[in-house]
Amino acid sequence: MAFTIIKGGRVLDPETGLDAIKDIAIVDGKILEIEDDIDIHAYEHHEKIGEMDENDIIIDAEGCLVMPGLIDLHVHFRDPGFEEKETICTGARAAARGGFTSVCMMPNTKPVIDAPDTLEEVIEKAAKVTNVQVHPIAAITANQDGEYLTDFQTLFDNGAIAVSEDGKSVMNARVARQAMRLAAEVGIPVFAHCEDINLRARGVMNAGKRAKELGLYGILNEVEDIIVARDIILAKDTGAQLHLCHCSTEDSVNLIKFAKAGGLPVTAEVTPHHLTLTEDDVDGTDANFKMNPPLRTKADRDALIKGLKEGTIDCIATDHAPHTEEDKKAGFKQAPFGIVGLETAVPVIYTELVEKGVLTPLEMAEKMSYNPARIIGMDRGRIQVGADGDITIIDPDFEFEINPDSFFSKGRNTPYAGKKVKGLVKATIIDGRVIYRNDGKNESIVKMEEHPEMD
Ligand code: DOR
Ligand code: ZN
Ligand code: ZN
Repeated sequence: MAFTIIKGGRVLDPETGLDAIKDIAIVDGKILEIEDDIDIHAYEHHEKIGEMDENDIIIDAEGCLVMPGLIDLHVHFRDPGFEEKETICTGARAAARGGFTSVCMMPNTKPVIDAPDTLEEVIEKAAKVTNVQVHPIAAITANQDGEYLTDFQTLFDNGAIAVSEDGKSVMNARVARQAMRLAAEVGIPVFAHCEDINLRARGVMNAGKRAKELGLYGILNEVEDIIVARDIILAKDTGAQLHLCHCSTEDSVNLIKFAKAGGLPVTAEVTPHHLTLTEDDVDGTDANFKMNPPLRTKADRDALIKGLKEGTIDCIATDHAPHTEEDKKAGFKQAPFGIVGLETAVPVIYTELVEKGVLTPLEMAEKMSYNPARIIGMDRGRIQVGADGDITIIDPDFEFEINPDSFFSKGRNTPYAGKKVKGLVKATIIDGRVIYRNDGKNESIVKMEEHPEMD
């Protein structure tokens, strides 16, 4: 039996509201004790657990935030098909380095995850290469072509945690309605990327003052709002559980508020970049500021922050979207949409929202772990006796500069390069096992032998 003891950290459990200095003992993957002062000797002398194990670890978490392991509902791992951008292995390592113990992986791979065989491949590969829980999301339509529904029941039975057409919307309202009817029947959540592609046309950044100055085609807020409204109406009509991805506009927040007031099972996520950057940060040349939906106005950003704080928006998800340097160097108009987010989420959210007093550390844990777990019906996101030993330890006072060269992700496409931040992920623990550690000088990650890639 192996144990991990975390000493003296500020333990945060959103469900019970626990926010206190405590010790935690994890034995055989489960939290056994949460106490003011756990006697390490009782463990070392086998009184509580029997024989000692070479994996036994004691972590000093003094001055640190101890949260339930972070959960990202929205990542792109590009595997299979675009392994030059990211693989499940490199993506999962980036997740662990970013403090994430579970991630949900979007299906816009090649082939698209739209059938049990690709789904199974992804699940098998993830189990081989990482301890991070990688939950695949299956496509809504075959090959994400927007025409024929996939077999939600079979995909659900084989491990798909949700269905999504992410990268685009199901534009045909008839197909979208069929999808929600089927999703409601099967009991699988629909993760909606909301974008009216006809209205988006050639847009590459937010439509407004800045796009005019730069002479770039704009993307109206309505591109998002129209599909958010449509999908909420369809969720009402069908009873589907609808989760709105990467909300970026003020009216998205208003529409979600309306849906929740009507008692609909609608949830929403917002990315760290939409909470912290605006169209004014776009210079028209650096495509690391190009993503979909685009960075909006200050009014939109402020509405997103308020919506998150108040609970209209349920959670933070990164939309980690790695691309190669070459892809991103194609010029602002030509470059693909998307930025990486797994390794910057914690310091960006800590620095911009927690340190500035917008979110408490407990609320950060709620929006990055507890609420995401509830949305996908996963029994994680808690630091309680008997719960799984998934824990993220963050040193809130550690200052550093974001350096893309240090990323475990293959993607270097971040708008935060050189940003001075606080909030270092010191350890990521999954089922009681320390997968990642960083003391500010040296870092280490557990690499699984079956997969020599990157070693
Ligand atoms: O910025 C984005 N990148 N938005 C998306 O919807 C897709 C994603 C990607 O796959 O690169
Ligand atoms: Zn999307
Ligand atoms: Zn996405």
